[in-house]
Amino acid sequence: MPKVIYIAHDGARTELDIAEGENVMHGALYNGVEGIVGECGGALACATCHCYIDEAWTEKVGGPGSQAELDMLENTAAEVKPNSRLTCQIAVTPELDGLVVHMPEAQY
Ligand code: FES
Repeated sequence: MPKVIYIAHDGARTELDIAEGENVMHGALYNGVEGIVGECGGALACATCHCYIDEAWTEKVGGPGSQAELDMLENTAAEVKPNSRLTCQIAVTPELDGLVVHMPEAQY
């Protein structure tokens, strides 16, 4: 299974194997990683799954996948940066094995 590395705002690092096809938000939730809330369950209706994609991965992951994600990124609690994504919109694939995401200071 592809590995995803979640870095908390305080620097705490959690490495998880996430099933292919699952999304990065669910990977955190199912494993009790704090820092990603995912309140709407991935319906692009909350922005509480906001993360910053590690610079080494931005090209591979790409930018927001839809206008709806772009619109919802206007509702994040933390500052939006060029590498901001909503993690419910990032499917885990073998190509993303080793992906590093940085969690913002707050999701509310
Ligand atoms: S979980 Fe609500 S927008 Fe991602």
